[in-house]
Amino acid sequence: MMMNSTWGIIATWRMAFDGINAATTRLQREESAETAVIEAVKMVEDYPFYKSVGYGGLPNEEGVVELDAAFMHGTTMAVGAVASIQDIANPIMLAQRLSQERFNSFMVGEGAKAWALANGFEQKTMLTERAQQHYEKKCRETIDQGLSPYSGHDTVGICAVDLKGDICVGTSTSGLFMKRPGRVGDSPLSGSGFYADSDVGAATATGLGEDLMKGCVSYEIVRRMGEGMSPQQAAESTVNDLEAKLIKRYGRAGDLSVVCINKSGDFGAATNIDNFSFSVATAKHEPTIYICRREGKQTKYEVASPEWLDAYQARITAPIV
Ligand code: GLY
Repeated sequence: MMMNSTWGIIATWRMAFDGINAATTRLQREESAETAVIEAVKMVEDYPFYKSVGYGGLPNEEGVVELDAAFMHGTTMAVGAVASIQDIANPIMLAQRLSQERFNSFMVGEGAKAWALANGFEQKTMLTERAQQHYEKKCRETIDQGLSPYSGHDTVGICAVDLKGDICVGTSTSGLFMKRPGRVGDSPLSGSGFYADSDVGAATATGLGEDLMKGCVSYEIVRRMGEGMSPQQAAESTVNDLEAKLIKRYGRAGDLSVVCINKSGDFGAATNIDNFSFSVATAKHEPTIYICRREGKQTKYEVASPEWLDAYQARITAPIV
């Protein structure tokens, strides 16, 4: 068994912070990166006010919540994933379970749900009243004001390294709000939404799946770290290179945000938007929420202020009018 002198965990968005806090205790007492990741993702999935992940996630254009999730173990290279799954309580647990299967480790839709129910996973109505209200509001805006129906794709992605040297990553999302039934983004796709290699590190992405997939960003970040880049260099250069290529060849680039960590517990984050937040804790770094902004081609981040945190909580719980 490899041993490591350090631990660390990093996640996309502020919504993962409570899970990062809980994971800190786990990793300090030598629990596995796998447990830390799964338990932290579950906390986000279970919180009804996070409208882009799990219970309370926003529905597709037919008002149905379809969820995607994945788990990768960077030592064994095991990957499990689910896509377009309906009414299963914790998609991340299903992804973790599927990662133990030699065959059929990436399942979608009805087949995934039937397998989950046959294997003891909890059935739960994942559409909340609040998500239904968001849906009705978006339908009105789309029809009355001609606004784009597509917004909101804040995937939770969490990478962790533990004291044994194992590195894992997990993702979970309800995907693009108002997506077509059956649409799947980057989050359950190995290499795009996530990647982990315990010899190097792990990375995960959030943003517009259709564009993140074009660059296999998570694999690319891990590859660059493996070639000697720091996590920050790897994250930033990957986002910048993909954005430039998309603009040149495709005419536009959607939101691209990433976080990563290496086996030494050094971390990086990069984005092409303002107000991307991430949550991180390592053996050398207390649990912290950072807010990113872009200056030129550089991602700068600062600790979230109490005002920012208050405004965030007020925003996610505000009545829907
Ligand atoms: N990044 C999540 C999605 O596009 O579905």
